[in-house]
Amino acid sequence: MDYFDGKTALITGASRGVGYALARELATRGARVVISARGEKRLHDSLEKLRKITPDIVAVAGDVGAWEDAEKMVFAAVDNFGGIDILVNNAGVSMRGNFSELTPEVCQQVVQTNLLGCMFPSLAAVEHISKVGGHIVFISSIAGLFGLPGASAYCASKGALTGLCESMRIELHQFGVHVGVVHLGFTEHDPEKRILAADGSQVLPDRPAHNTQEQAAKAIVGMMQKRKRRLVMTPPGKLGGLAYRLSPGLVEKAIVTAKSSSWAIFKDFE
Ligand SMILES: NC(=O)c1ccc[n+]([C@@H]2O[C@H](COP(=O)([O-])OP(=O)(O)OC[C@H]3O[C@@H](n4cnc5c(N)ncnc54)[C@H](OP(=O)(O)O)[C@@H]3O)[C@@H](O)[C@H]2O)c1
Repeated sequence: MDYFDGKTALITGASRGVGYALARELATRGARVVISARGEKRLHDSLEKLRKITPDIVAVAGDVGAWEDAEKMVFAAVDNFGGIDILVNNAGVSMRGNFSELTPEVCQQVVQTNLLGCMFPSLAAVEHISKVGGHIVFISSIAGLFGLPGASAYCASKGALTGLCESMRIELHQFGVHVGVVHLGFTEHDPEKRILAADGSQVLPDRPAHNTQEQAAKAIVGMMQKRKRRLVMTPPGKLGGLAYRLSPGLVEKAIVTAKSSSWAIFKDFE
């Protein structure tokens, strides 16, 4: 029997992108899945596609940064499937722009979605997941490993997930709950994906992709099954993370140099 067979998973931000790929992977492996996002049309379309894999799929529209909506997502899992084994805090928003140019609204939206939007669903689900020694996973980024130019609020919100994850892991050890963080690298994105510019306007992402959504989903599911504390995806993520641990000053110097040169990868880092 597959490890995920019969387990109930709530995946936030699963109407598209990595969250949708993850919902598809878990559904294929026999899990009962609750997907959530704000946009109802896309969420409904994704629900219909997933229903072709299994009837045990429920969709809940809502904002992860709003406590009532986060509770609603967890209630949907408990009401429909009798409990919750897995929470993947995947919903997130990216931004570009130097810190001095950010509007207060952009700072608020990024932190509200990427940090409180992980805390609220976790808080609503923790008691249920503790009962079954399940999984709570946070989808972070290479930008959660070290600071990157043009992404300050994003780095702050993703970096904070590491602290949240570490505290929760210790507190939940007694209940056998696996709490893990995934540092995604540049991943293929859907055409609808938008990121926030410094002034709050929505712009297209402009980065290369180092892995597909399917590869990311399979790696995340694998780290859950092995109950790993941390997964760092893509060669730049692994190399950058290691280099930063060994010599943060050197990495900072390399980024400053790269930023002023034509080494464009650091301009597009997420
Ligand atoms: N793609 C990458 O290269 C990459 C790299 C590193 C880290 N990540 C992280 O991986 C995660 C997924 O990225 P992705 O590229 O798949 O993103 P995406 O294509 O933009 O999808 C984001 C999903 O989250 C939902 N969402 C956004 N804000 C929400 C909110 N406040 N409440 C509820 N749902 C919300 C979106 O639907 P609605 O807009 O309709 O709500 C959508 O379903 C994010 O946390 C991102 O930061 C991605």
